[in-house]
Amino acid sequence: MAAAVKQTVSNIMDKIHGTPEGTGLREPSLEEFQQLRQKYTDAGQGQVFAFVDELKPDEKTRLFHQLSDFDPNRISHLADVALNPPKSDETQASLEPLPDVALASILDSDPKDIQRWYDEGLKQVADNKVAVVLMAGGQGTRLGSSAPKGCFDIGLPSHKSLFQIQAERITKLQSLAQKVSGKEKSVIPWYVMTSGPTRKPTEEFFQQNNYFGLDKSNVFIFEQGVLPCISNEGKILMESKSKAAVAPDGNGGIYQALVTSGVREDMRKRGIQHIHAYCVDNCLVRVADPVFIGFASSLDVDIATKVVRKRDATESVGLILQKNGKPDVVEYSEIDKETAEARDPKQPDVLKFRAANIVNHYYSFRFLESIETWSHKLPHHVARKKIPCIDPETGDALKPEKPNGIKLEQFVFDVFPMTPLDKFASIEVRREDEFSPLKNAKGTGVDDADTSKRDVMKQGQRWIEKAGGIVVTEDESAGVEVSPLISYGGEGLEFLKGREMKAPAIIEKED
Ligand code: UD1
Repeated sequence: MAAAVKQTVSNIMDKIHGTPEGTGLREPSLEEFQQLRQKYTDAGQGQVFAFVDELKPDEKTRLFHQLSDFDPNRISHLADVALNPPKSDETQASLEPLPDVALASILDSDPKDIQRWYDEGLKQVADNKVAVVLMAGGQGTRLGSSAPKGCFDIGLPSHKSLFQIQAERITKLQSLAQKVSGKEKSVIPWYVMTSGPTRKPTEEFFQQNNYFGLDKSNVFIFEQGVLPCISNEGKILMESKSKAAVAPDGNGGIYQALVTSGVREDMRKRGIQHIHAYCVDNCLVRVADPVFIGFASSLDVDIATKVVRKRDATESVGLILQKNGKPDVVEYSEIDKETAEARDPKQPDVLKFRAANIVNHYYSFRFLESIETWSHKLPHHVARKKIPCIDPETGDALKPEKPNGIKLEQFVFDVFPMTPLDKFASIEVRREDEFSPLKNAKGTGVDDADTSKRDVMKQGQRWIEKAGGIVVTEDESAGVEVSPLISYGGEGLEFLKGREMKAPAIIEKED
């Protein structure tokens, strides 16, 4: 088991199996402590014990347990590879858009196909074969909020948080599936991945809000792993004299965490076959979207992913493409200007690489069964960061003004190249219906709370107008908030036919 993940296992198992938290840590013997110190020294990481003689017994014990959860040789190796990457063949990497066979589009699909996918997906939901995994371990530094992003109120008339919007879509979809199938109960279990910094506030938020009306036994909050932060010289940084600086291991940590947390086992017990995984910051996300589930399951692929058309060459989104003949994602930070701006030779008015990654994935359960065979091959990406730490010589606290080290992260999509093209599919969806991420602080005007609110409200307005309602508006961006408990994707709004309302408005009840 990867050391980084091991650290979270006991916590996760405590949660899942209900072992009381807060039990004291076992004090290590002198010999155990010496052995660990030697292991770190041999790996060139002995500096983590530099101030050990100044520590109180409980601090020493905590340090022992934190460091025991990492393999210092592995960390030194990862640091070495990250800081001295092998001469890359990236320049020779051949990048091409995905072939047509692996790419469908909602925009030009036959409506009959879309209906068929929807019916199939809803049937899978009704049969309790669909689960949802939410990636909510990010720290949202660009947003400038210390609370987990899912708790964020984007300013809708209802003041619902992102978590609540997503939970209500699950509730609604369960009832739609029940209605269609005539079954007494359809359940979509919701597995919420958090990290060290987001776990506790997320748990508290769910408790305070009574799990947003979902049955608590079908909501699992679990935790991804962490990795130590590394100095520019390849040394583990210390946050204090008794604690190594650590950071979540990236959204690619999801795979190990699904296994170590017991989530995959829980899915197996429930007979789950299809999994929808997505990011917390997308207010338009169609959680467990039946169309997507039906599309992917009818193709019998292992992984499917939704894309939207990239807004322009500078948008901060990854691109889904084929790299050296394999499905892949190239991150916005990793692509050069020329490639980003390249035009499609067949349609020069659009970008050549325009399939924007919105981190909206389908996995077959069969695929998750194989995690152990490939998860150790996922690469680590380097993020150069300002990492608060102590001076390894003096022990003084340092608040760096420029990047002083690196965080190592795995990316959720790095599994794509390990998937044969015939087991991989991608579907283009309408941005205005499915993607509006919350990335930046309010006031930036791009992917911020105001654009999120606008996009939810405008979608509501479109749905109402389609159903024959009349929305009177003086402000173009006002729109109507439609509660997900009333409509999951625009259905069931016939009761508004002929009704006039003044935007901004809110539809919370059917009357
Ligand atoms: C991500 C994608 C990018 C895509 C964009 C669309 C990755 C690596 N990049 O970029 O290709 O175009 O979203 O919005 O996925 N998270 C964790 N644990 C972590 C780090 C992140 O769970 O350790 C979660 C976050 O909570 C969030 C999601 O992963 O839900 C994406 O993270 P974020 O940092 O916002 O990714 P971007 O850089 O915006």
